[in-house]
Amino acid sequence: MNFKLTEEHKAVREAAKNFAESECKSGVIERDTHQKVGLDQLKILGELGFMGMMVDPKYGGSGMDTLSYVLAIEEISKIDASISVAMSVNNSLVCWGLENYANEEQKQKYLIPLAKGEKIGAFCLSEPEAGSDATSQRTSAIDKGDHYLLNGTKNWITNGSTASTYLVIAQTDADKGHKGINAFIVEKGMKGFEISAKEDKLGIRGSDTHTLVFNDVIIPKENRIGENGFGFKFAMKTLAGGRIGIAAQALGIAAGAYELSLAYSKERETFGKLISQHQAIQFKLADMYVDIENARNLVYKAAWHKDQNMDYNLSGAVAKLHASEVAMRTTVEAVQIHGGYGYVKEYHVERLMRDAKITQIYEGTSEIQRIIIARNILDN
Ligand code: CAA
Repeated sequence: MNFKLTEEHKAVREAAKNFAESECKSGVIERDTHQKVGLDQLKILGELGFMGMMVDPKYGGSGMDTLSYVLAIEEISKIDASISVAMSVNNSLVCWGLENYANEEQKQKYLIPLAKGEKIGAFCLSEPEAGSDATSQRTSAIDKGDHYLLNGTKNWITNGSTASTYLVIAQTDADKGHKGINAFIVEKGMKGFEISAKEDKLGIRGSDTHTLVFNDVIIPKENRIGENGFGFKFAMKTLAGGRIGIAAQALGIAAGAYELSLAYSKERETFGKLISQHQAIQFKLADMYVDIENARNLVYKAAWHKDQNMDYNLSGAVAKLHASEVAMRTTVEAVQIHGGYGYVKEYHVERLMRDAKITQIYEGTSEIQRIIIARNILDN
């Protein structure tokens, strides 16, 4: 095993760290408080080549590996998880899905601007009654010969209003179960497509999460992705990689909270000495460190599996489950170490604690990860 990063990996990590420090840090509290999307930051990410990191340069991407992507997400999430979720959805759900399963015409038209960061994408699977149970899609796309007619509602859609290109999963033949589901490319502005209510969230408040409504939206036949009935597998395959990105986000949130706590413990004095000299704080820092090291090893291993073209369903679910639990544990302890200061916005850890929670929910709850892990270990 080689645990050494290459010079290229280190350079990507450094670029992401610089971006987060110089472009995200100063406005992160303001964006969180007022639920403002960091459009300027997303634009810069596009210019850095970070919106289509793993996409082949011939489709406008940076042609990097999954480990580079994970390193970048980790660094940005230490400071602003709202920026990193927009980046993660665009990279691993939208661009990856299109690059691997769209046809050449679709790639030319939709993938290139997304990979360059000129446009932003959204992945629309969840519905009021189909979050975890993804086969229970109520959104329908009825085959009308030369087009599909799309009707329904999607919920909790990341990049809901900032996106221009939406990958929408819908039922085309309810009798066929998951084999009657398809994925479609839907454009902002199509007649009957309404971007509805914005969610007022606990965390990742600088990302826009919306309900989307489709009322008799005409979808050209050529906007279906893959063979008829491929939509559910498309969603599952795409989410399997997406989970590595969210695991990296959780890792970054935990590492960010740990780094702030470590620094604070060397500044704050109680009972006549630095709190870092109290064993109660030392034990907390040691536990955080071990947790984060474990999470990092799991996240990098899942990324490595993907880069080696090995199966990453199991390792991705393990990484996401563990890293998101570490994010939650670590951020709660970070607030505790900061005491009263931890409970106010200025010290950042309360935001990281709120942001951590979503990593146990989106792209499959912790319970879904356990289902995936159990199925894999029982089958193999
Ligand atoms: N890769 C390829 N195929 C897969 C697959 C995978 N990872 N997982 C399942 N499949 C296939 C199965 O092989 C099966 O195909 P066959 O019938 O041909 O054998 C088919 O899909 C159905 O699979 P299951 O019977 O396992 O399906 P299920 O109904 O039991 O559900 C599940 C499985 C894992 C629980 C799935 O429903 C799931 O992942 N749910 C969670 C969905 C989710 O992550 N939602 C989050 C929304 S997206 C989001 O959060 C984005 C954002 O904005 C940040």
